[in-house]
Amino acid sequence: MDDELTGQKIIVVGGAGYIGAHVCKAVADKGATPITFDNFSSGHKHAVKWGPFETVDLRDKPATLAAFTKHKDAHAIVHLASSIEVGIGEKDPAGFYENNVVGALNLLEAMRSLSLRNLIFSSTCATYGETDQMPILESQVQNPFSVYGKTKLTIEHMIQSYHKAYGLTYITLRYFNASGADVSGEIGEEHDPETHLIPIALAAAAGLRGRMKIFGTDYDTPDGTCIRDYIHVSDIAAAHLCGLKAFANGLTHSKVNIGTGKGVSNLEILQMIEKVTGKAVPYDNAPRRDGDLTRLYADPKRAKEALGFTAQHSSLKNIIQTAWNFHSKRWNLKNVHGPDDK
Ligand SMILES: NC(=O)c1ccc[n+]([C@@H]2O[C@H](COP(=O)([O-])OP(=O)(O)OC[C@H]3O[C@@H](n4cnc5c(N)ncnc54)[C@H](O)[C@@H]3O)[C@@H](O)[C@H]2O)c1
Repeated sequence: MDDELTGQKIIVVGGAGYIGAHVCKAVADKGATPITFDNFSSGHKHAVKWGPFETVDLRDKPATLAAFTKHKDAHAIVHLASSIEVGIGEKDPAGFYENNVVGALNLLEAMRSLSLRNLIFSSTCATYGETDQMPILESQVQNPFSVYGKTKLTIEHMIQSYHKAYGLTYITLRYFNASGADVSGEIGEEHDPETHLIPIALAAAAGLRGRMKIFGTDYDTPDGTCIRDYIHVSDIAAAHLCGLKAFANGLTHSKVNIGTGKGVSNLEILQMIEKVTGKAVPYDNAPRRDGDLTRLYADPKRAKEALGFTAQHSSLKNIIQTAWNFHSKRWNLKNVHGPDDK
């Protein structure tokens, strides 16, 4: 058990969501109490298992202040609550800016009025936008093209201003592709609609949806499909623990990539799914989508230097195995064993 965290209260805003639930579990495993704040717009009450929750919508400023006031003895705040579906953001930018940016402003204002200092913010590799320079360094220019990425970059700027003017201490974590599930299979990815490749491919392999589409097979990569940096959600949760410890050791501000530094192609994912589950993923080739970059992977060095974080659970096999374990329980599949599980 780590002494720095034992007995502390950590507010996890968005703690009922995919990554938030894994953060809550990791925090509780260290002897601290996670307090989930969530409006359950995409999160699930059944995923809140390791501490109390407050039903609160960040867009409601007085309600947000009231919830924070109730827990003003918290040691740190982890802010994961957000609208995340990139396509919806393009159609409804007003809703995205309101939920993400106004919500974050209300959170920052509640923290300021209660002199709460330590904030860990969930940002994203989508803030970098178009770039050919791989791996991506934190110092690289950020020029997001999606509304989603723009809202996240705006929040990064707000947090920086609060640090400078009001002494907020913060760590911005720019996650790459979150994936996998807790090894217990009790929590995992449950987005609706689901737009992430691995759960869609697993559902296709299980025969629970039709053939999936692989967008673009003529990219300049060894197999022609896009390459991304998949990081296991338990590693992302561990990065938050490193951040909480870093606050205790005096870190005042940092912005770090949370990725593995390795790229995996779409076809490599489908091949690993077949290996792990014993089921082929039915798919069709489709044209490229606007805005999809050829390759995207992190330089993970700063995370190691600033937070002492390196990914431990992010082999592609472990990502697929844990995701399959979670989904096959959730879908109540009987035969979940593939050739690799013998
Ligand atoms: N999943 C990924 O691959 C990924 C990659 C990079 C960054 N991120 C970021 O990580 C965070 C968590 O992502 P996730 O995949 O767990 O998403 P999620 O949708 O599963 O979780 C988001 C949670 O926030 C809650 N929420 C949303 N708006 C709220 C509001 N106004 N008030 C209170 N609660 C609200 C939702 O109910 C949900 O529980 C997000 O900020 C996302 O942008 C995710």
